Amino acid sequence: MPEVFLPFASFGLQSRMPMRFEADVFECEVEGTIPPELAGGYFRSGGDRQYPSLEDDIILNGDGMVSAFWFENGHVSFRSRYVQTQRLVAERAARRRLYGHYRNRYTDDESVSNLPQRDNTGNTYAFAHNGRLFALREDSRPYEIDPATLETLGEADWGALRSTALTAHPKIDPVTGEWWSYAVFADGEPSRAASLHVFDAEGRLTREQWFETPFPGLSHDWGVTRDHLVFPIMPLTADDRRLRAGGAYYQYQPDLPGKWGVMPRDGDPARDMRWFDVPGVMGHVMNAYSEGNTVVIDTPISPGNCFCFFADRNGRFPELPETVTQITRIVFDLSRPDAEAVSINPLPGALGDMPRIDDRFAMQRYRTGYFSLRAFPEMGVGQIDWDSGEVKVHSLQHAAAQEPVFVPRAPDAAEGDGFVLTVVDRLADKRADLLILDGRDVSRPPLATIKLPFAMPMAFHGSWIPTPQETNA
Ligand SMILES: [Fe+2]
Repeated sequence: MPEVFLPFASFGLQSRMPMRFEADVFECEVEGTIPPELAGGYFRSGGDRQYPSLEDDIILNGDGMVSAFWFENGHVSFRSRYVQTQRLVAERAARRRLYGHYRNRYTDDESVSNLPQRDNTGNTYAFAHNGRLFALREDSRPYEIDPATLETLGEADWGALRSTALTAHPKIDPVTGEWWSYAVFADGEPSRAASLHVFDAEGRLTREQWFETPFPGLSHDWGVTRDHLVFPIMPLTADDRRLRAGGAYYQYQPDLPGKWGVMPRDGDPARDMRWFDVPGVMGHVMNAYSEGNTVVIDTPISPGNCFCFFADRNGRFPELPETVTQITRIVFDLSRPDAEAVSINPLPGALGDMPRIDDRFAMQRYRTGYFSLRAFPEMGVGQIDWDSGEVKVHSLQHAAAQEPVFVPRAPDAAEGDGFVLTVVDRLADKRADLLILDGRDVSRPPLATIKLPFAMPMAFHGSWIPTPQETNA
């Protein structure tokens, strides 16, 4: 009997079905006027199953689907393509599902056992570095994508890299152009092995250092400042025995604190890390910076388990209020003893996730942050002014905003002077729009609305690649 498509669990206790098609829309319908400064491509990656999944599948297990909005002279074209991963190619050849649960190779078809990079779906971040585009996934090595066509070019060359994985939340140093990366489970097993990596502006590996985390915990994003590194290890733990029994990759441990490692940026993580206890669960980081011995990191954090599709050891899944994240400023004062070093400051009104900034201000003191507002039932796009603590909101009716990505108006524009691009799910219409908002004040009406004639499954993270400007020689 052929398998049928079943709903999968998403964030916020939602249940979803895959879309399963690749699309081309040569000329998108546009309301308003596309700002002439927007010339380039907006690339995103998300998960969308090509073949049926096992029961109780989760959003993180979808096949990578990269999409692009190309902007040219006020016109917009759209395309989406599956990342042609080893696993997708194998399933298409077999014309059936071969892979089982999220990161559990013991649930796969026997014909594909022990395939390296088994979990490499590329479904998490369409990440641009030095004009190249990569489909990232935190347990794997990135695939390279052609930004002109979305064709999968294959796994890129990582030189002498030992780690089996590169985080799906790398940081680009705006001063040096370096690609900063790390991995937990860096040996490919549910272990305490972690690694730190730096690639130079041309993508050559210049640094790799291994260390151990306090427990084999989830770590989806991190902080890089000009002087320090911050590694948050969450109380969702992986265990090979559970995997062999067919269980979930992660189990929530409510009795464990989050462990946050802080170290000097140029230090040795195995020797120089200080581990601090921080309650709550987070996935993402907005930005981080250092001021002397003080390290500031801004993160959406939930009181319970925001990774709501992973149960605790009693099989309990969280209630909705436990999963709601609030953007919180965590400050580590490294001049103080461990027990007194951490202060935790939730920002009033900043309920939501998927935080982004003006990336030119990464790793340094900054003023403006953007996020998907999820102050149920209110949904929309939020904008934080960290100097005043004010939160501006672009409120949406019967719609939800995906990640807001900022594009500067010009290379030398002031912080926040530019555009916020966010895909909005029109839930009742089963359709999606791309909104162009004013980065200085997202609460204003959209500058332009780019309309798609179909729904878009929630994608995760994206990048803007500007069209190279012609210069007069
Ligand atoms: Fe993420």
